[in-house]
Amino acid sequence: MKNPINVLLILLLSALSLAWIEYQAKPWKVPDKYVNLKNPYVNKTDAKFVGKTLYKVHCSSCHGKQGLGDGVKAKRLKSAVPNFSLQDFQKQKDGELYFKSFIGRDEMPNFEKKIPKEEDRWQLVNYMRTLKKE
Ligand code: HEC
Repeated sequence: MKNPINVLLILLLSALSLAWIEYQAKPWKVPDKYVNLKNPYVNKTDAKFVGKTLYKVHCSSCHGKQGLGDGVKAKRLKSAVPNFSLQDFQKQKDGELYFKSFIGRDEMPNFEKKIPKEEDRWQLVNYMRTLKKE
């Protein structure tokens, strides 16, 4: 290869695609402190209404009405928006959903300021549980 710029470009492109692959497969490590959190509102059926309302306002634009990952903003994101109706999502503990929902990472926003009340947060977690396929 005559032009060293070509070599550089190829190296750069390979590094970028590797980084991209790693980004796509990035496991989401939830700290033990959160994994073991107890949901104090686990049996509150009135959670459904509040959870649903909060979900519509804050989450459905990306996650979609039924949580299928098909909200209007989803296509514009670099990360895949997960499907809440699947077993792999639903088998996680409440504390894991809590961490991912309110602390977030990358394109999944942090909601600690927008949803400050503990009860509201857990009601949202409860609502996500209703999105599983029967
Ligand atoms: C701007 C778009 C956007 C909004 C708004 C949004 N999310 Fe997300 N969410 C994402 C993306 C993208 C991911 C995947 C992030 C990743 O893997 O890095 C994600 C991931 C998640 C996950 C982890 C899913 C899994 O497979 O473990 C949960 C839980 C979640 N979101 C809950 C919520 C809740 C609850 C709300 C509303 C309070 C919300 N999200 C609002 C984009 C969004």
